[in-house]
Amino acid sequence: MRILGIESSCDETAAAVVDDGRKIRSSVVASQVDVHHLYGGVVPELASRKHIEAIVPVVEQAIAESHTDNHGIDAVAATQGPGLVGALLVGFCFAKAYAYGLKIPFIGVDHLEGHLSSVLLSDSPPPFPFVALLASGGHTAIYHVKAEGEYALLGQTRDDAAGEAYDKVAKMLGLGYPGGMVIDQLASQSASGGIEFPRPYLDKEKFDFSFSGIKTAVHRYIQSQEDVSSQDHQAEIAAGFQAAVIDVLVHKLLYAANVTNSRHVAIVGGVAANQGLRERLTREVDHCSLSLHIPPISLCGDNAAMIAAAAHRHLQNDDRTSMKADVYSRQLRTPH
Ligand code: KG4
Ligand code: ZN
Repeated sequence: MRILGIESSCDETAAAVVDDGRKIRSSVVASQVDVHHLYGGVVPELASRKHIEAIVPVVEQAIAESHTDNHGIDAVAATQGPGLVGALLVGFCFAKAYAYGLKIPFIGVDHLEGHLSSVLLSDSPPPFPFVALLASGGHTAIYHVKAEGEYALLGQTRDDAAGEAYDKVAKMLGLGYPGGMVIDQLASQSASGGIEFPRPYLDKEKFDFSFSGIKTAVHRYIQSQEDVSSQDHQAEIAAGFQAAVIDVLVHKLLYAANVTNSRHVAIVGGVAANQGLRERLTREVDHCSLSLHIPPISLCGDNAAMIAAAAHRHLQNDDRTSMKADVYSRQLRTPH
């Protein structure tokens, strides 16, 4: 089964062709970061316009690079939500029209299920069951993935997502948007290991997160200083912030593995690209004989290969989406 996937929930226009939910034939991601960078965050109206400009060339490129043509595609999938409505509508409506024109099935995919499926595209996908930390710009949650498509939500953030906290701290330091990668790189330059910030565990035995407190602690610290513009000082702030976030993410993920008796753990979403997190988890799993599964960096951020991978199971179950279906902006349900 060859699926064309389309993703346009936020600031990336992406298309991919994936065989049998596992083999990526092509994956094209057109980022709008340069547009939004100027504003320090995603401007929804601009995002929609940029998706409209990009969708046709991005899909054409994905088809061309997959060495197939329209008639080789068995189904079309697109992100249905959650995300920015105006942005989602571009990919979703385009995909519907594409499927209608070719008289092939159309499948709307939950964005979070897409991220959870991204690890199935890695070279060493985890066997089921496993626990997964999904940490992105919009979400931070831990799932117990019992079988393909069977996700139990163990806990999630009560306020900011982890990626959002990265973006806000970067903004405080005048480093633009998005902030994850630049904070990650700065953190690696710290000489002293970073400034000490509080760890927002909430209840250590629960799986919900809170990142707004740590963001406020960083803000207070910056306000208390005369000048934080030197690279060395910024590196200490970045390292301290990153260490606090990683401590919490790692603690909760490993605790979830323990409680659910899982032997396999995965991290997915934009924050899974974080070098500090990847290195720390790689060390930690060694001590507790767990196996760690992380998608390649290209599949951590938003992409369409993960949407096509998630759609494969729906197609197998003949679970198609009606042409009358609409997009949704907020998380409606645990992905199923
Ligand atoms: O999954 P994603 O591309 O989009 C959402 O679904 O939100 O995640 C984007 C988020 C942004 O907040 C970005 O700052 C963060 O992922 N991110 C990182 C890193 N690379 C991207 N956060 C920490 N470290 C990174 N290296
Ligand atoms: Zn995402």
